[in-house]
Amino acid sequence: MEPVAGARTFATSGEAYDAFMGRYSRPLAAEFATFAGVADGDRALDVGCGPGALTTELVGRLGVADVAACDPSPPFVAACAERNPGVDVRPGSAEQLPFGDAAFDLALAQLVLHFVSDPPRAAAEMTRVARPGGTIAACVWDFGKEMRLLRTFWDAALSLDPDAPDEDRVLRFGRPGELSQWLADAGLGHIVEAELTVHTTYGGFDELWGGFEAGIGPAGSYCLALPTDHRGALRDALLERLGSPTGPFTLDAVARAAKGVR
Ligand SMILES: C[S@@+](CC[C@H](N)C(=O)[O-])C[C@H]1O[C@@H](n2cnc3c(N)ncnc32)[C@H](O)[C@@H]1O
Repeated sequence: MEPVAGARTFATSGEAYDAFMGRYSRPLAAEFATFAGVADGDRALDVGCGPGALTTELVGRLGVADVAACDPSPPFVAACAERNPGVDVRPGSAEQLPFGDAAFDLALAQLVLHFVSDPPRAAAEMTRVARPGGTIAACVWDFGKEMRLLRTFWDAALSLDPDAPDEDRVLRFGRPGELSQWLADAGLGHIVEAELTVHTTYGGFDELWGGFEAGIGPAGSYCLALPTDHRGALRDALLERLGSPTGPFTLDAVARAAKGVR
């Protein structure tokens, strides 16, 4: 399999991912599966499964025999398989799905499209593995609006470094209409787009900051690459922008989701 550029920042353990992003992607998985229309008797594929937030949600709804998953990150494939015994979890990218034609009722990608190097090819592949009449659906964080964790992080980073690679500027698909266009360009019909909102509660600011220092995803990679004094200044700027919480606090996150029919 060819190396996938976006996958390199996800070479981390399932536990580290959970503390940073899995705490959002688990509740998002329930919202996304409902939005996609997962129903009894369906067979579903989780594309870019990570350690398995959506896979686990699908197993709860459909059973292990009717769920499959893939991801280019070896530790995530291992974590997803361990957490979902009996599920067919394979190494593989969205651009070259390791599954046969028309094998699924639904092909789903949660928080993945930002990192896919060839989105049209990913759409063609998700369409190929879905049966005629099957559903292709994806969701991504709305970085510009209310993914509060990442929006506040990048606002703090930009206040210290105007060239910081704000995910809202460098990643695609977070804006209204972009996911729908991606599906339309792949020739899908009956396209529907929605906003999905979830939230998570932190025990304190250090719990949140530890997620960035684990180096996961674009924000974590940026954080870890900073010189120590700059990283400390970023920590202080982020703390202030979050209102300097001294105890538990809750943050919202909004995802954009779209689905279409093959
Ligand atoms: C933010 S994580 C989302 C993981 C999981 N879907 C979730 O909701 O928690 C992004 C995932 O996309 C995967 N990824 C990166 N590039 C990919 C590609 N080209 N095809 C499929 N997955 C990819 C990463 O390995 C990582 O697991």
